[in-house]
Amino acid sequence: MIILKTKEQIGKMRAAGRLLAACHQEIARRLRPGLTTWEIDQFVETYLTAHGATPEQKGYHGYPYATCASVNDVICHGFPRKEALKEGDIVTIDMVVNLDGWLADSAWSYGVGAISDEASRLLLTTKEALYRGIAKAVACNRIGDVAHEIETYAESLGYSVVRDFIGHGIGTSMHEAPEVPHYGPPGRGPKLRPGMVFTIEPMLNVGSFRTKVDADGWTARTVDGSLSAQFEHTLAITDEGTVILTEL
Ligand code: MF3
Ligand code: CO
Repeated sequence: MIILKTKEQIGKMRAAGRLLAACHQEIARRLRPGLTTWEIDQFVETYLTAHGATPEQKGYHGYPYATCASVNDVICHGFPRKEALKEGDIVTIDMVVNLDGWLADSAWSYGVGAISDEASRLLLTTKEALYRGIAKAVACNRIGDVAHEIETYAESLGYSVVRDFIGHGIGTSMHEAPEVPHYGPPGRGPKLRPGMVFTIEPMLNVGSFRTKVDADGWTARTVDGSLSAQFEHTLAITDEGTVILTEL
C-alpha cells in the first residue's frame, strides 16, 4: 500500500532533505586524497546530531554506520573504513536523515582528486540518468516510465543499470511502497499522484550489471570489478509539480 503524504508531512521531509543536502555539500568540501570514509561517517553523524537529526541507517537491520561508503567497484552498502581514499577513486556516500520522525534519503558519488576519463564519464552519466528519470516522475506517468527512461539513457551510452537494488517509497520508515526499479518497460507499475514520496537512485556500472555481496553481508560489488556510481534523490509528487526534497 502506498502511503500518501499531506502537504505538512512533505514539508517535514523537505526539512530533512535540506539538511541532508547541506551535509553532502560539506562532504564535497572536505573530500581529498588521504581522507577516510570512516572520518566522513564520523563527520556525518556529528553534523546531523548537531542539527537535531539522527542518521536513520545506523542500526537499520543491524547496519553499523551512519553512512554507506562505496568505493570504485562497490555498488552500494559499503562500510566506512579507516583506509585513506586515493587520488582517482570514486566514492558514493549514501545516508538517510531522520528529522522529527520524517526521513529523507540521498546518495552522491564523488571523485577523489583528479579522476580518469572513464570515471568522470560514469559520474556524469549516472547523475544525468537520475535527472532524466526525475523529469519523467510527474503526476499521471507511471513508475515504469521513469525506469525505462533511465535504462535507455544509460544503455545508449554503453553502461549497465543495476537490477538488484532499487528505489523505494519513504516517509516515517526508510522503505515503503512503491518499488522503484531503474530498468524495464514503460507504462507499467503504479501511477504517480500527488502525495507520493519516493527515491530514484540509479546505480550504473561500466561493465555488467551483475552484483555480488561480500562476506560482511552488506558490501555489494560488481562481479566483473568494473566501476559503479550512484546518484539518489528523494522526490515528492505534489499538486504544484514534482519537488526534489534532497536539494538545498
Ligand atoms: N539509503 C539506502 C537506500 O537508498 C538504504 C541503505 S541500507 C542501510 O535505500 F541499511 F544501510 F540503511
Ligand atoms: Co540512500
